[in-house]
Amino acid sequence: MDYVKLGRTGLKVSVAGLGCGGPSRLGMRDGASEEQCAGIIRRAFDLGVNFLDTAEVYGTEGVVGRALKGMPRDKVVISTKKKFPLDDPKDPEGETRCSIEQSLRLMGTDYIDVYHVHGVEPSEYDFAVKNVLPVLVKLRDEGKIRFIAVSEAFVDDMTHRMLARGVPENHWDVIMVGFNILNQSAARAVFPKTLAKDVGTLVMFAERKAFSNPKRLREVCAELKQKKLIDYDGDDPLAFAVGPGKASSFVDAAYRFCRYQPGAHVILTGTGSAEHLKQNIESINKPPLPDDVAGRLREMFKRVDSVTGN
Ligand SMILES: NC(=O)c1ccc[n+]([C@@H]2O[C@H](COP(=O)([O-])OP(=O)(O)OC[C@H]3O[C@@H](n4cnc5c(N)ncnc54)[C@H](OP(=O)(O)O)[C@@H]3O)[C@@H](O)[C@H]2O)c1
Repeated sequence: MDYVKLGRTGLKVSVAGLGCGGPSRLGMRDGASEEQCAGIIRRAFDLGVNFLDTAEVYGTEGVVGRALKGMPRDKVVISTKKKFPLDDPKDPEGETRCSIEQSLRLMGTDYIDVYHVHGVEPSEYDFAVKNVLPVLVKLRDEGKIRFIAVSEAFVDDMTHRMLARGVPENHWDVIMVGFNILNQSAARAVFPKTLAKDVGTLVMFAERKAFSNPKRLREVCAELKQKKLIDYDGDDPLAFAVGPGKASSFVDAAYRFCRYQPGAHVILTGTGSAEHLKQNIESINKPPLPDDVAGRLREMFKRVDSVTGN
């Protein structure tokens, strides 16, 4: 496993981070038991992962606590988050304190390394800065959290309007951003800004349905071609990326492409499958895609900022 510095936090983190949410939620979506889900986390530790991302709404903080039992706390970097309903901003401080106390209890720890305001839409950003950020600063001063973060609502903000505004304001030590081969807009809108401010970055959506399901990839690309956003011949738009000396699969291409994006620190991968976990960690730790393949992918999708990879 390769390790990198998470921007100005100085934390040394694995380049592959385990996402305890996403579509699979460690296997909970398909009915895996808490112990089976904790087994995925322990397997990730065995493979060198030291970064876990969870959230109040994922329902996996208790699983994180189970997996961490008996483990030295300083061997793992925990990221979690809380979503704030805009329609009920009555008591952000009380709600945040209550939520953090619950997260700490569920995870069996007395501090959280990286705490995010979760899935902030552009229209919610002012609320987050005015009402939530000051509470997080107090909690940081009290030692309950170490670093303050924000994650974007990528599905509703595919051009990163919230982060493009928020990163230069410099309130956030860490951000979570949607980025993948199909929608590389963060390479223009976000990473130059995080690099300028030495902000730590967590990449989500590196691999979604379009990469694990070739039919879905063809559909997404056909729609983009119809809109004249990309161009290609034949039925298999990304076939050039896979083969001897190139990527071993579209999933492999997806993770390796993200890993080598300048400014990207941790590539998150979420799964309920121990086999997928191992494959994905291997991909994230492989060398970059050949220059001609990565260059062609960058050129092909350079005008696309309207898909997520779902
Ligand atoms: N706004 C936010 O704050 C936000 C939003 C989304 C995600 N997140 C965080 O980011 C993490 C990563 O999320 P993500 O959106 O990138 O999705 P993800 O959680 O990495 O999910 C990837 C999906 O692809 C499948 N998959 C994984 N490896 C595969 C392989 N090798 N072959 C075939 N299928 C594979 C998984 O299903 P299997 O179980 O079958 O492997 C899973 O359903 C999440 O877990 C969560 O912690 C945050």
